[in-house]
Amino acid sequence: MISPMKNETLFGEDDGLLIPDVGPWTEDKFDLIRLYCQIFSSAMKNKWTRVYVDLYAGSGLCRIKGRDQVLLGSPLIALSVDAPFDRYIFCESDPERFSALKSRVEKNYAKHNVHLVAGKFEEHINDICSKIPGKSLVLCFVDPFDCDFDIDNLKTISKCARGVDFLCLLALQMDAKRNVPHYLQLDSKIDRMIGNTTWRTRWNERTDIHEDFAKFLAREFAQSLSEVEYLETPLHQMREVKTLDKNVPLYYLAMFSKNQTAFKLWAQVLKYSNKAACSNRRSKCHLAQPSNGPTPPGIRCAAARKSAPAVRTATPNDLRSVFAEFQVIPLNKASTFAWYRKSSRILFGGSPPRRSLSIR
Ligand SMILES: C[S@@+](CC[C@H](N)C(=O)[O-])C[C@H]1O[C@@H](n2cnc3c(N)ncnc32)[C@H](O)[C@@H]1O
Repeated sequence: MISPMKNETLFGEDDGLLIPDVGPWTEDKFDLIRLYCQIFSSAMKNKWTRVYVDLYAGSGLCRIKGRDQVLLGSPLIALSVDAPFDRYIFCESDPERFSALKSRVEKNYAKHNVHLVAGKFEEHINDICSKIPGKSLVLCFVDPFDCDFDIDNLKTISKCARGVDFLCLLALQMDAKRNVPHYLQLDSKIDRMIGNTTWRTRWNERTDIHEDFAKFLAREFAQSLSEVEYLETPLHQMREVKTLDKNVPLYYLAMFSKNQTAFKLWAQVLKYSNKAACSNRRSKCHLAQPSNGPTPPGIRCAAARKSAPAVRTATPNDLRSVFAEFQVIPLNKASTFAWYRKSSRILFGGSPPRRSLSIR
């Protein structure tokens, strides 16, 4: 059963249905989508009809390879925000994943306004668009396994409502960069992803012969969306997610919007979830209850909410991700940490901890 937890929730429980294995870096993706959904849905509440669309929804739960913990996938993360969206649309092509997602949504989120679409989203664009009110503000998460998708479908969805923001996973390092010679030939899936064939000429005529193929394509993707009035997302606003062990780049997570507000919100998310948070997540720490200071999104003090039990203890990187301006100082070899402001005033500290600051 998935506990009725709010936005800070990252964890579910094995319910006997399909739980696919994922790489450890997936946690970084979930942090970013969780923070963005939380900020977006709260900021736009009572201003817009807010619609969350997940084109590659998955089964709703997953498990990091080699670990026992079960993580909420993007659709359930979006359902768990403090100010739920007015409507949710989830598409999933794999029948077993779809069936697991449907069961989980019906069992745990029955009161939310959810539309489930079985099959490839490309084959249901009209259906998806018909479920989006014209005056709504849409956050559309695009989370494919690889580069095999057609940007024209996003351009079509972009016309469904007054505002459609895309949070896209661009699997350029994982897929595109490993197959450069193949993709340089005509009629590759990169043509569909970028939406033109002229990128090849620009690549061949590039002035910097050391230019990175993935970075080049990320810019081309942004340029292509700018043809339908999207602001051109610069590379530095795209989060590069890397493997935890070897620091190998995997993909970009990038926001695409016609409106500057989305970039302001995304910048906040990037600030909270700084690069350090996207590296080593394994060392655990125990932290004393904060004496004062802000409560960051995604983290609550277990003691402050007695009804909701802690699920796990925060790691240094969890906290680094939300307190970008704080430094973490190891106190001893047993991985107990103190947290300092830059001014050196202790905000959190303790060894052993009196109470744990926990993420639920
Ligand atoms: C990387 S997983 C996404 C998982 C999910 N977003 C999450 O964060 O938990 C991609 C998912 O999209 C599904 N999928 C692949 N192609 C699809 C398509 N054309 N339309 C809808 N779903 C698709 C796959 O079966 C898989 O479950």
